[in-house]
This record gives sequence, C-alpha cells and structure tokens, in this order.
Amino acid sequence: MVDRLEQMYEGKAKKVYRTNDPDLFIIDFKDDATAFNGLKKGTIEDKGVLNNLISTRFFEVLQEKGIPSHFVERLNDREMLVKGLEIIPVEVVVRNVVAGSLAKRLGLEEGISFASPVLEFYYKRDDLGDPLINEYVVFALKLATPEQIAEITDLALKINQVLQEFLQSRGIELVDFKLEFGVHQGKVLLGDEISPDTCRFWDLETREKLDKDRFRRDLGQVEEAYAEIWRRIQG
Ligand code: C5P
Repeated sequence: MVDRLEQMYEGKAKKVYRTNDPDLFIIDFKDDATAFNGLKKGTIEDKGVLNNLISTRFFEVLQEKGIPSHFVERLNDREMLVKGLEIIPVEVVVRNVVAGSLAKRLGLEEGISFASPVLEFYYKRDDLGDPLINEYVVFALKLATPEQIAEITDLALKINQVLQEFLQSRGIELVDFKLEFGVHQGKVLLGDEISPDTCRFWDLETREKLDKDRFRRDLGQVEEAYAEIWRRIQG
C-alpha cells in the first residue's frame, strides 16, 4: 500500500503526486480539457475517470505483448500508480490515416489511409507549441540518444500494431495517436496516457469520431464518445 504525498506537478489534464516510495508516483486524471495549446478550455464530465480506465486497459494489453511501460496499477476511479520516469522531451506521433495537423500541413483530405504508418517527432515544448522536429534535431539538442530513438521507434511501431489489431476487433479504427517515453533505471519505458485525449478513434464502419476531436471541433456528444470507447474496449 502506497501513501499519496505532496503534489509534484499539475498539467492540463493530470496531476502527479509523490508517494512514500521514491520510485512510484500517482497520476490523478482530471476532467479539464484543453486544445490548441491551451487556447480552448473546457470540462468533459467524467473524462478523468474514463481516461484512467481506458489507459489502464491499453497499458495492460500492451504489457501482455511485452511493451514496457510506467504503468503499475489503477488505484481507484481517477488515480493510477506509475514508475517514475525521466521524461524524454520528444512526443512521438504514429499515424495510419490522414487527419489533423498532417492533413493541413500536406494539403491532404482527412480519411485517406496511408500505405504504411507515418512516425513523427515533436519537441515537447508548450511555449513553442510542440514544433515538428526530426532525428537530426533530437541528436543535435541531445534530447535522446540514437539508441533511445531506435528503441522508441521500434516500440511505437509495435504499439501501433498491437493497438490497431485490438481496436479493430472492437469496431474502432486507430487513426493516429501520441506517445511519450522516459527512462527508468536505464531502460526506455512508455509513459503518459493512451486515451481519447491522445488518440484519434473512428468508428470502423461509420467513421464517426470517438475522441477529443469532438471537443476540439465542437461536435457535441463528447462524454458519450469517451464512454463508448470504454464500453467497446473493456473486458
Ligand atoms: O494534431 P495532430 O494531428 O498532430 O495530432 C496527432 C495525434 O496526436 C492526435 O491523436 C492527437 O490527439 C495527438 N496529440 C496529443 N498531444 C499533442 C498533440 C497531438 O495527444 N500535444
């Protein structure tokens, strides 16, 4: 049994607390939602509870397939116990279908499937709006080592395969998602969360959006979409 100690950090969607074990931390998932680098703010009822459940499920599925992550266990409705990571300041996006910023940048219509997954790196810097970078920038700024980037690339593509297969059998298309990684005792682990806040999920048949784009684009039925993802992936 771990005890929750003082808050260490509060982000846009999560709070992080220390525990009496120096190696373990508690993530508390909030209902607050932001988009466009904090310009749009709101609340999605029970989002914290749903994202905790959904992330837990994904981390467990990934763990079964040998993907190492910071996940230890879900403690209660909103709290997850995780291992402490030295966060690598690179956000990794994997895309299977054209959407969002890539559609804009390349002038492509949303919904076109790629022949092979697209992997992108973004510099994790809120003050700069998380700019797109490549490996040369990562190495020149020493954000990660070549070995770490090789490991991260391998893990991100494997995670994509595992999640795509898992979701497809539940009627969900994995359009794209963002991952974060960190180092724990010298080893690269998957960190952060995997939820409708950080992924694009479309209904496989109707292509209805079941993720944060409903909030970003004022499409309504936001809570319902998050609950629908949980309904389809549980058990
Ligand atoms: O906006 P963009 O199309 O680049 O987003 C790609 C994917 O990464 C989406 O699933 C989005 O939810 C996720 N993302 C994220 N956090 C960011 C940027 C993107 O979770 N800061």
